[in-house]
Amino acid sequence: MKQQKSAKTNPKSNNLNPKSAMAPEMTQQTDIDDLVIREGIDGLTPARIVTLYRRAPLLRPVSDPERVWSMFESASLVLTAWQGGRLVGIARVLTDGVLFSYLCDLAVEPDVQRLGVGKRLINAVLERCKGTELALRDSDISAGYYAHLGFKRVENAWVRRAT
Ligand SMILES: CC(C)(COP(=O)(O)OP(=O)(O)OC[C@H]1O[C@@H](n2cnc3c(N)ncnc32)[C@H](O)[C@@H]1OP(=O)(O)O)[C@@H](O)C(=O)NCCC(=O)NCCS
Repeated sequence: MKQQKSAKTNPKSNNLNPKSAMAPEMTQQTDIDDLVIREGIDGLTPARIVTLYRRAPLLRPVSDPERVWSMFESASLVLTAWQGGRLVGIARVLTDGVLFSYLCDLAVEPDVQRLGVGKRLINAVLERCKGTELALRDSDISAGYYAHLGFKRVENAWVRRAT
């Protein structure tokens, strides 16, 4: 396994705990009182990520934790949601910081889904990626979610696997 690098942080990073520098409107968006959003990969381990992704569920190469860890080491922005010491949500983003951002992963523990954790993570991503266009791929179960949060479906997206 690769050596864990220091946290991937935005230079403008703050701990996004509501008690810190979070925008006021971002403090009221969850039914979980003690939810804390953090930036970077500190506190994450391959096992913790894989456990959350299996449970959410989020289809990623969870049978290969080293590969999953590489996805996190290469990300531009990682935001995590914590309830006490428990990891309950992850958002992983690639961004150029100017025009385009891509929300690669969004996953929330099932027992705290529909309590505003995902919305808090997305709002924190939007805050960090301000000025860029945030794109993502949905799934059958999450399409309605993104529509609900103000995302628009586009018809001019194309994908091709690089082989
Ligand atoms: C999709 C997911 C990230 C949503 O996170 P969450 O914390 O449960 O969602 P939130 O509580 O932040 O929901 C915010 C709002 O969206 C609504 N919502 C949640 N899931 C929804 C869905 N599937 N369809 C429509 N609306 C939905 C909530 O009711 C809430 O509405 P409100 O703001 O009016 O109260 C979470 O369900 C999950 O991890 N799913 C499995 C993995 C997955 O599908 N990830 C996305 C892959 S593209």
